[in-house]
Amino acid sequence: MITRVLTPEEGGVSEAAAILRAGGLVAIPTETVYGLAADALSQVAAASVFEAKGRPQDNPLIVHIAGEDMLSPLVPEIPGRAKALMEAFWPGPLTIILPKSDNVPDSVTAGLPTVAVRMPSHPVALAVIWETGRPLAAPSANRSGFPSPTAAAHCLADLNGRIPLILDGGSCEVGVESTVVTLCGKTARILRPGAVTPGDIAAVLGGVEIDPAVTLPVGENETVSSPGMKYRHYAPRARVIILEGDDFGPFRRLPDLNRPGTHCLVFEEELADCPVPALSLGPKKDCAEHARRLFAALRELDDRGAELICARVAGKGEGSLAVYNRMLRAAGFEVIRGGDVL
Ligand code: TXA
Ligand code: MG
Repeated sequence: MITRVLTPEEGGVSEAAAILRAGGLVAIPTETVYGLAADALSQVAAASVFEAKGRPQDNPLIVHIAGEDMLSPLVPEIPGRAKALMEAFWPGPLTIILPKSDNVPDSVTAGLPTVAVRMPSHPVALAVIWETGRPLAAPSANRSGFPSPTAAAHCLADLNGRIPLILDGGSCEVGVESTVVTLCGKTARILRPGAVTPGDIAAVLGGVEIDPAVTLPVGENETVSSPGMKYRHYAPRARVIILEGDDFGPFRRLPDLNRPGTHCLVFEEELADCPVPALSLGPKKDCAEHARRLFAALRELDDRGAELICARVAGKGEGSLAVYNRMLRAAGFEVIRGGDVL
C-alpha cells in the first residue's frame, strides 16, 4: 500500500473523511499527539487499527468526538461529574472513561464494559470528525511501544505502507497524550497524567485520585485499570536511563556518561556542561516545553545512533507528572538518583 501525506490545504480533510467512511485508516493531527483514526462504530474498522499498529488486543482505544451530541449514543447516561469536566476541559486534552452503551463495538473497548471518550481541540481533527460524520477511534499513530508521533514524519516512519493517508497538520502543541480519568468508581481517578493536571481536575470535582500505576511498575500478573499501563512504552530503540535530581553535577561522574554511544537529554541550562552529545528538553522550569519536545527528541537520538540515552526529568510535581510518567516507561523504570552517585 502506498501511504500518501497531504495537508488540509491540499484537500486532505475530505480525502481523510472519504477513507474513514469506507472503513479505512488515516493518521490525523490532534493537539496532543497524532492519532490513527478509524470509524469508532465499525467493529471491523476499529479492529484493523490493532493490526496496523501491532497493538496488543487487550488495550482499548479512545473515541474522539467533535460535539457533545456525539457522546449520547456512546453511553447510557452522562453523569453530572462528566458534564462538569466536559464543560471545563473540552475541547482539549482530557479523556473521560464511562460505562459504555451497546453501540460501541467490542473491538474499540477491547471487551471492557467502559468507553474512553475525548473531544480534541485541534481544528483539523475536529474537521475530519465532522466531515466523516462519525466518532473516530484513535490510538496514537505510532507502532505499538515506540514514542508517540508529534509530527507527520513520525507517523510516516512508523506506518509507511500500512495505511493509505497521513494528514499533515504540523507539530503537536501539547506533545504528550491526553490525561485519562475514569469516572467509573466512587472517586474520579487519573489513569494516565497529561496536560490537564490532577489539580485542574480536583478544582472542578473537589477531589481526584492518582492511580499507583502512574509512577510505579505494574507486576506481571496484576490487573490494571488502564491496560495501556502494562506495556513498555514510548521507548526508542536505545536503552534509556533516567537521571533524577535537582543538580546535573553528580551525574558527570557516571561511567556510562563518558562512553561512546551515550547521548543525553538534558535541560537547556545543562547543555554546555554535558560531557557527551546531547539534546535539550527546554529550560528546566518550562514543563510544557519538555512535553512538547520529549517524543521527537527520543526519535532524534535513535536516528543519531544512540545506544544509551541518559535523560533528565523534572520530578513528579503537578506540572511535570505527565513527562515523568512517559520517561519512566521509556526507561523501563531504570532511574539513577543524584544522591546515589558515588
Ligand atoms: O491524546 C491522546 O489521548 C491520543 C490522541 C490521538 O487523542 N490518543 C492516545 O491513545 O493516546 P492511546 O491508545 O495511545 O492511549 C489510550 C489509553 C491507553 O492507555 C488505554 O489503555 C486507555 O487509554 N484506555 C482506553 N480505553 C480505556 C478504558 N475503557 N478503560 C481504561 N483505559 C482505557
Ligand atoms: Mg499510545
